[in-house]
Order: sequence, then structure tokens, then C-alpha cells
Amino acid sequence: MNSQKTISGFSKLSKLGKIKWLVENFFKDPESVMHELKSYWLENEADQKLLDGISENTISNYPLPLSIVPNFVLNGATYCVPMVTEESSVVAAASSASKFWMERGGIHAEVLNNLKIGHVHFYWGGSEERFAALFEPMRIKLISESKPLVDSMEKRGGGLKSVSWKSFIAQEPGLFQLFVQFDTRDSMGANFINTVLEQFSASLQDFFKNQDGLNPEEREVDVIMSILSNYTPDCLVRTWVECPIDALGSFPGKMDALTFAERFYHAVRIAQVDPFRACTHNKGIFNGIDAVALATGNDFRSIEACGHTYASRLGKYQSLSQCSIDQGTFRFWMELPLAVGTIGGLTSLHPIAKRSLEMLENPGANDLMMIIASAGLIQNFAALRSLITTGIQQGHMRMHLNNVLIQSGATEEEKKSATLHFSDKTVSVNSVKSYLEMLRSQRINI
Ligand code: MEV
Repeated sequence: MNSQKTISGFSKLSKLGKIKWLVENFFKDPESVMHELKSYWLENEADQKLLDGISENTISNYPLPLSIVPNFVLNGATYCVPMVTEESSVVAAASSASKFWMERGGIHAEVLNNLKIGHVHFYWGGSEERFAALFEPMRIKLISESKPLVDSMEKRGGGLKSVSWKSFIAQEPGLFQLFVQFDTRDSMGANFINTVLEQFSASLQDFFKNQDGLNPEEREVDVIMSILSNYTPDCLVRTWVECPIDALGSFPGKMDALTFAERFYHAVRIAQVDPFRACTHNKGIFNGIDAVALATGNDFRSIEACGHTYASRLGKYQSLSQCSIDQGTFRFWMELPLAVGTIGGLTSLHPIAKRSLEMLENPGANDLMMIIASAGLIQNFAALRSLITTGIQQGHMRMHLNNVLIQSGATEEEKKSATLHFSDKTVSVNSVKSYLEMLRSQRINI
């Protein structure tokens, strides 16, 4: 083992000390890397400190573009939607699909419910019957001992919504679970939920220690963990678009509206029957969802984990979105669980997340659920529209061309000329480079 590549006491080093150790041991050109990493620090020291405090062992910032999607009409209100993504063409696709639906009545959405879930997982020596008999006094103790923790959430209209239990002893001897539902109002609520669950765990252990009339095995309780579940099927939002088929218009290659609607319907069916396609189809949905989640300071990993679990709820992984053609109407919709927050956590710390929420007119959690789910739906619409008409590469290649031109240091004039040249040709790094070389040599020869 190369001892310089391991270190003890790293977290105690200053930020510069950390960078110095890193660049000296992991890079060939330490000075220029040090310079580059520092060049991404924010000028304003207080702002930089705030960012550094969001994570640990921070050495620099990792910039990603903040983009906006205009003309996003949802339930009659017009939004400009912030997106943070590293994938080119996601924002262009969302913008074009937003405009398409703006001209056809906009997007619609409703929140069906908004409950979060948490568990205390534990092993217990008694039977299901005995647990059922003991549960009511236990429930009363759990609720009363967590009251001080729940009070302020109750004042905001939320709090504990139910406490029940499940047994898993058919699959795993002795395994039980407290199953708790929470209303966390406009916050994502992870800290609140986990704090209450840990109090539940203490109360549960105390109950089995002190309750009268238990035999020795029934005093044995082993709490393994207390944690929220990111699967929140009772935190559900529905989003949809619809219009008469004729109003869909016409599509590239002179495809008429009915052909488009039928091909679109089949594209969704494929993702309903084939998990391989469903995975990519849903990935396209999360291209939109994650980008808005990230821009608004929400936890896109929990949102994705939840969405994919929901996509498997019928015992087989399938499309999150659905489509119908019925009596001349094209409908495209999606229902999915989406736990988000608009207060607390990163939403109130990160300066750009705060601005993103302001851009969305400071929505509550329910409004943000509808916006984010709708961004996923129109992203999915845009992807399928490309796939069943021109194919996805046409749009992707335009963005790819742009990126290669930027990487090759192309001038504005060269970019214009290359865009025209490649409008009907295949783009590759080599073909763009050769084209630029050709342009440049022509100029020299003139
Ligand atoms: C690419 O990021 C997303 C798509 O593959 C989604 C899809 O195939 O539906 C275009």
C-alpha cells in the first residue's frame, strides 16, 4: 500500500491543507490542480462557507448549469421551471413539450394524499396474538411520550397520523414492526420523522421492561432500527395532459395526428410489458423530475428510489406513465408518490435553491409535488415524441455537435458553418474536428 495515499486526521486539516495533501498525492501537476480547484471557490467568503457546510471534506465547488423551462402552464398558472441537469437536450425537450401543451390547455395535476411513513423494526419473543392484546396500551404510551416532539408540527397542522403494527414472523421468526404515518406539511420531514421514531423505540423498550403480566420471553425486545421509509405510496400526485386527437397537429415526416397518437400509445404499452424498456422510459421521466428536485434543493435519490419501488408495486417493474385513446381524445398521465419539501433542509440553506423556489412563487409541498411530477410527465412526452417520429439522435446530435464545437474552441462563425454543414450528416468527434481543420486550412490558404 502506498502510505501517502492514506491519511489519519484528515478531517482536522484546514481546507487548504486537505487540497495540498490531495494534489500532492493524487495528481501529476499539483500546482495547476490546486489553482484550478481554488478558481471554483466563490468570491464571497460567507457564501463559500455556507456551501462548505452542506457537506464534509469540501475542497471546491462542482458547478452544473441552472436552466429554466418557460411556458410551463399547470392548472392554469404559468411557471418558469428551474432545472439542474448535466444531460444536454433534457431542458430543450422539456421546453418544447411545455410549449406544445401550453397551446393545448396546459398540464393538469392534483395531489391525492400527502402522508409519509416510518418504522421501528424489532425482534420480540412473544406471539402475534399477545402483541395484538398489548398494542393499545403500548400505542397510548408511544403517542404520549412523543408528544413534546410532535407539538410544533401539530401546531402547523401536521403530526402523527396513525400508529399500527405489522408482523413478519411468517418470513422471519420474531420480526415485528411499528408502522407510523406522518403529516409533515411543507417539510420533507426526514429529521422530524426519525426523531419521533427513535423516541418510539425508547418507549417500546420501556414498555416491555415495565408492563405488568409479561412472561420472561415477552420482556425480550431487540430494536434493530428506527427509520423513515422512502417508499411513500400515500404521498401521491397525479398529473395529466389531454386533447382531442385532431388538436395534436402534425409531426415530422408528415405523420398525422391519429398515427402519432397510436404510435405514442404503443410506445407506452411497450414500457408496460417490458421491464427493459420500462427502465429507460422511467429514466426519461426522472430526467425531468430529478432536474427540478435538484434545482429546488430536494433529495432526488429518495424520490427516484420511491418512484422505482412504486413502478414495481404490481410485482413487475413497469412504466410509471399511461396513455389512452378514447372517443377521439388523447390522454397521457402518471400517478406517482413524490415526497418533497419547500421548507427546511437544503431548501432554506442553498441560495440558488431558495431562488428556484421563489421563481416558482414559493410553492407549498403540494404545489411542488404537482410541478415536479408534471416536469417528469412532459419530459416523458418529449422523449416518446422524438422516439416515435424522428428518433432520439436528431435532437441529441444537435446538442452533441454544440458540445464538440465548444470543446474544440470553435469561433461563432465556425459554429454557424458547422451547424449548417452537419444538419444532414452524422456527428462524431472526429468528423467535427476534421471539418474544423478543413475550415481553418481554407482560411489560411485564402
Ligand atoms: C435519455 O436520457 C432518456 C431517453 O432514453 C428516455 C426514453 O427512452 O424514453 C430518451
